[in-house]
Amino acid sequence: MRPISLTRYLIEQQREHGHLNADLRLLIEVVARACKAISIAIGKGAIGGVLGSAGSENVQGEVQKKLDVLSNEILLEANEWGGHLAALASEEMDHPHAIPNRYPKGEYLLLFDPLDGSSNIDVNISVGTIFSVLRCPDGVAEPREEDFLQPGARQVAAGYAVYGPNTVLVLTTGHGVASFTLDREVGSFLLSERQMKIPAATREFAINMSNMRHWEPPMRRYIDELLAGKTGPRGKDFNMRWVASMVADVHRILTRGGIFIYPRDAREPDKPGKLRLMYEANPMSFIVEQAGGAATNGHQRLLELQPKALHERVAVFLGSREEVEVATRYHREAAGA
Ligand code: AHG
Ligand code: MN
Ligand code: MN
Repeated sequence: MRPISLTRYLIEQQREHGHLNADLRLLIEVVARACKAISIAIGKGAIGGVLGSAGSENVQGEVQKKLDVLSNEILLEANEWGGHLAALASEEMDHPHAIPNRYPKGEYLLLFDPLDGSSNIDVNISVGTIFSVLRCPDGVAEPREEDFLQPGARQVAAGYAVYGPNTVLVLTTGHGVASFTLDREVGSFLLSERQMKIPAATREFAINMSNMRHWEPPMRRYIDELLAGKTGPRGKDFNMRWVASMVADVHRILTRGGIFIYPRDAREPDKPGKLRLMYEANPMSFIVEQAGGAATNGHQRLLELQPKALHERVAVFLGSREEVEVATRYHREAAGA
């Protein structure tokens, strides 16, 4: 069978569901093209001069790597001129980025984490790009931060690229989740799975265990029970994986199941978790739900949260439905809900 390109897939989706207008298709293709450029830069590693620190900090006080900055620039430049966007926002920029006046404006807002898993860049472990697409509110010509603050349930598309042994793009437009593998010689993303499905049950969890002493009691209870294995209350042995690139951990879960957790902890009590709601948790939750999984902050469905700030942080529990339900139940019980 002849391979199906991303372009053909998008056009066929439009014929089938009528939900992908020309601008949204262009947006997805432009983001995919930017991901190809990022993949090429990452692939060059030390000989491309892309490793190491950029010597600057982002709005969240994190040291920026050269590839954080470069990936942000690649995504910005690719998306500014096409006429499909009203504005962009990124982990690496304090405020939303307006479309320059010399270009036409479109009806979509694009948010991204240009390079996820920065701590893995220099050690040649998988990293990724995450993106989320919202509609610009009606009548807003110059979108400001508050125009981005829409619950994740309003996303019209979301996806990620994982730059691993192969580069894979995973995409949802609200009708399931498809994956595409980059054919490096041809330079196209080719359909590799039409409908990714997360198994409801799992024996695998992903969490950074080194933070255990900072966790809340229901979090400790949940992991203690998994660690107790066959003879414990859960009656089965669990395995653990932690890549420290959310994209890679979530990709494993989409492929073979699992639960991914980055809970709130007591290290920085004013921050409800490490991951960012708008460009990490929301797009991943949309993808995971579309693949049959679940995603909560321990109490509520992540996609229903009303964002309060562009760089807001949130606790994340996502993946195989049965495990997300158990962990969420323990948190709700502890809160007396
Ligand atoms: P980013 O590189 O975009 O800042 O995100 C890193 C995130 C996420 O990808 C990963 O799951 C988590 O940080 C790892 O955190 P720890 O180093 O605390 O394990
Ligand atoms: Mn990230
Ligand atoms: Mn990042």
